[in-house]
Amino acid sequence: MKDLIHRAAGDLVRSKNAVALTGAGISVESGIPPFRGKGGLWERFDPMEYAHIDAFMKNPAKVWDVLIKEMKEVIDNARPNDAHKGLARLENLGILKTIITQNVYGMNQMAGNTDVIEFHGNFAWQRCMECNNRCETTKIDIGQIPPRCECGGIYRPECIFFGEMIPPQYLRVSEMAASACDIMLVIGTSATVQPAASIPLIAKQAGAKVIEINFERTPLSIESSDYIIMGKAGEILKTLTTEIERLFNIGSSPD
Ligand code: APR
Repeated sequence: MKDLIHRAAGDLVRSKNAVALTGAGISVESGIPPFRGKGGLWERFDPMEYAHIDAFMKNPAKVWDVLIKEMKEVIDNARPNDAHKGLARLENLGILKTIITQNVYGMNQMAGNTDVIEFHGNFAWQRCMECNNRCETTKIDIGQIPPRCECGGIYRPECIFFGEMIPPQYLRVSEMAASACDIMLVIGTSATVQPAASIPLIAKQAGAKVIEINFERTPLSIESSDYIIMGKAGEILKTLTTEIERLFNIGSSPD
């Protein structure tokens, strides 16, 4: 592992334009469950019954009462972990340009990253389906389910449900970032949901090196990863950032 970290750090120090694609695994050490695998949300709820736009439109109260209330609990309490802080450090070292995240809790922005593409939208905001009025999720009163706007319309989260298109502008900027980067960090994703899972392949085909950081191997590990650093994202990013600073010959890593 030490040699892997040293080589990956060397590539990142030499990088002119690194981009990261993150998935739910990067936030597990913040207490946010992943979707698949041990402790995954989809082990407890059927995504087609709770996370599909048709299911929400058919019975918003049911989706609010089960899935969205649980996600609201998470967003009210979760804070960035060492993995998010490591990516913020890589941005302020001028290495990391953009994060494309499949996550919806705004952890990267909370950690300090400024260029974040929220590929699956953001759960931090709710929008009224009648008048489009927006309200921060933390300010939504869940005493009434489903929560309603003053106009009487029902609030829906601004994240992308299954069955909904990825906003074309998110897709375009993400593909452009992937095509232009020289290193793609892929952190904490099972690489099973399209079109996000194709982003590292676009980077690879454009000549970038792919550094995969994950708890377990994924379809990407075979297809495109130049480095597969297995373990907890928080621990790995902390070690990687410390090694980068050593190579950069900079002072101690952020507290
Ligand atoms: N450190 C690193 N990797 C981890 C950790 C950890 N502490 N914990 C879990 N993982 C890995 C898991 O092994 C898994 O490969 O993170 C990955 C999480 O995969 P998923 O739960 O499938 O999350 P993600 O890839 O983001 O899902 C993609 O599916 O349901 C939709 O919209 C949802 O954005 C989500 C998309």
